Amino acid sequence: MQFQPSDDQQMLRAMVRQFVEQEARPTVAERDEQALWPGELVRKMGELGLMGVAVSEEYGGAALDYMSYAIVIEELSRVDASLGVIASVNNSLVCYGIEKFGSDAQRQELLIPLASGRALGAFSLSEPGAGSDAAAQKTTAVRDGDDYVINGVKNWVTNGDHADTIILMTMTDPSKGAKGITAFLADTRAPGCSIVKVENKLGIRSAHSCQMAYDSFRVPAWRRLGEEGQGFKIAMTVLNAGRIGIAAQALGIAQGAYEAALAYTKVREQFGKPIHEFQAVGFTLADMATRIKAARLLTYEAAWRKDQGLDYVKDASMAKLFASETAMWVATKAIQLHGSNGYSKEYPVERNFRDAKITEIYEGTSEIQRLVISREITKG
Ligand code: CAA
Repeated sequence: MQFQPSDDQQMLRAMVRQFVEQEARPTVAERDEQALWPGELVRKMGELGLMGVAVSEEYGGAALDYMSYAIVIEELSRVDASLGVIASVNNSLVCYGIEKFGSDAQRQELLIPLASGRALGAFSLSEPGAGSDAAAQKTTAVRDGDDYVINGVKNWVTNGDHADTIILMTMTDPSKGAKGITAFLADTRAPGCSIVKVENKLGIRSAHSCQMAYDSFRVPAWRRLGEEGQGFKIAMTVLNAGRIGIAAQALGIAQGAYEAALAYTKVREQFGKPIHEFQAVGFTLADMATRIKAARLLTYEAAWRKDQGLDYVKDASMAKLFASETAMWVATKAIQLHGSNGYSKEYPVERNFRDAKITEIYEGTSEIQRLVISREITKG
């Protein structure tokens, strides 16, 4: 058993840290405040190989392992959780899905630009009436000659307004329930695809979440991902991997909030001494550090299991559940340790607190993670 990242993984961490400290930190508060899309940073992330970390070189990726991917998302999110989710969706929900389930033509034509950062991907499963109950898809796809014609409304599409290719889940046979769901690689520039709204959100404001409509939207059959009826399985498979990414995002948010709190308690003096010297503060820092370490071990182990080809459904859900609840807990405590200053936008912990909340919700709520874990540990 090895608990130490390899030399290459440590170099990768240092590279991503330098990138976000130099290029993202100076503008993160403004981008959050104004919900500004970080287009230039996303372009640079592509150049650095961060948009297709675990995709093979043949298909434009950096050909690293999932441990490395977790480190990338953690380091991006330590400074800017919006960059974390933009990269996570492209890496694990989109690129992984196309590499695993796509045809050779789809990999050549669509995966290479996505993994190399020349194009951006999104993943579209949620609908107004299909959140946790992901199988309740109402968006329809009907075969018409060499095309499918798609009608429906999707929401919470991360990257939606900047994406080139969207993994779009539709219902092709409602009588079959989950087995009637079919996935497509939709070209967002084709007629019939429109952005209804970009959500005005509590956190991760610089990563855009969109409601999108499809009105007689035609997708050529070669863009169908997998077989008809395979869509739900594809969605669940990429979400298993995506949950490692969101666990890593939550871990990064927690780490950023903890570092800010630690630094603050060393310089903030009350009653004649730095406040970390008070036992109540010191113990809070100790609990933060301990929970973050536990979240990191869970997250890395889930990634390691995926790298080993072991089953990791339960492990990814455990990592996401624990890391997201840790992020929320740590960010709440980080504000408390800052006192009134923590409530001000002048300090980063207020943003960490708002960003942390979504990690308990998207890619499966904490309740859904508990459902997945309980099913896994009681089956057989
Ligand atoms: N991995 C692989 N396969 C899975 C799976 C998993 N984690 N979970 C279910 N499946 C398979 C089952 O094995 C089953 O296949 P078979 O019929 O061949 O046996 C099939 O899928 C149906 O499974 P269930 O009967 O268990 O399905 P269910 O309707 O009871 O729902 C659920 C299961 C776990 C609740 C699922 O609906 C779920 O994960 N819901 C949460 C959805 C979610 O995470 N949404 C996030 C959207 S993406 C997002 O957040 C936006 C973004 O851009 C970040």
